[in-house]
Amino acid sequence: MTNHKIALIPGDGIGTDVTDAAMKVLHAVAMTAGFTLETETFPWSCAHYQETGAMMPADGIETLRAFDAIYLGAVGWPDTVPDAVSLHGLLLPIRKAFNQYANIRPHRLLPCVEGPLKAPGFDILCIRENTEGEYSGAGGRVHQGMVNEVAVETAIFTRAGVERILRFAFEQARARRRHVTSVTKSNAQKYSMVFWDEITRHVAADYPDVAVSMMHIDAMAARMVMAPESLDVVVASNLFGDILTDLGAAIQGGLGFAASANICPDGSGPSMFEPVHGSAPDIAGQNIANPIAAIWSASMMLDHLGENAAARAVMAAIEQATAKGIGTRPGRHSTDQITAAILAALEAAS
Ligand code: IPM
Ligand code: MN
Repeated sequence: MTNHKIALIPGDGIGTDVTDAAMKVLHAVAMTAGFTLETETFPWSCAHYQETGAMMPADGIETLRAFDAIYLGAVGWPDTVPDAVSLHGLLLPIRKAFNQYANIRPHRLLPCVEGPLKAPGFDILCIRENTEGEYSGAGGRVHQGMVNEVAVETAIFTRAGVERILRFAFEQARARRRHVTSVTKSNAQKYSMVFWDEITRHVAADYPDVAVSMMHIDAMAARMVMAPESLDVVVASNLFGDILTDLGAAIQGGLGFAASANICPDGSGPSMFEPVHGSAPDIAGQNIANPIAAIWSASMMLDHLGENAAARAVMAAIEQATAKGIGTRPGRHSTDQITAAILAALEAAS
């Protein structure tokens, strides 16, 4: 029987609530699909920072390397640890250390979920560059606190980094509706984004079967609201992709439905799966967080691990629950009720 070793980092706030829910579903589907999941839980979080002075131990990355995948709940508790400290101490270093350069975020409406738009159905796959660009971390501050203080944060785009994310997006499009929209801002950013466009054209030449268009980030934001059904695969730089995927989450009914996968495509390190929502301190521990994004992310993890039938079974169970109106609107059902409905649908199908 195949065994998958999963590192669990529930993290902060509702991260623990939704990780529990996702694990219940994962263990249930493993039982019927005939594989085992060996999980090890790491308490790395803002509470851990307060106890130890670090979000994770110095050998944290090396510890994670031994796993087949990482499942993360959420990171951040700004009342005690500034976000720039907690995120740079856990989430962002993991994405970079394991070369998880492709952040995949699906945006579509689940059955009976009413998004804010009067749009017909849409099915967008956002591919966000996840290791460089505006998140490169290159910069500094001088003359701190003085009137002549300067802060610089430089976006870094490398040919290798841009080319690989674009290739990844075109490959994804081949398994879908064969259309890539490459998000740019080359009308204003005459170095990095002109470079991005050139590489888009260069890569597109290798995929004559995939249609490509380029769209500026501002126009793209409007199009995701006005005509989301016209989009298939959307590929964007780190910050552009970050912003557009919160917009994507909004049009699919809210952050409670937004799943994501941080993929290391060459398998040289583990990939990481996490819901897009943050730790939501205001609703933490109250059994009201929507676990659907977390369970959908777990389904993406199963796909990545090659458990494709189990991944489909989990998605089908989520869809059956929402088709009955469970988890479709905030506040109507508890975390436990939504999880129970998904578990019941899984059980009924097995
Ligand atoms: C996300 C989050 C993170 C990001 C934050 C928490 C650093 O917003 O995964 O979308 O910007 O990547
Ligand atoms: Mn974000």
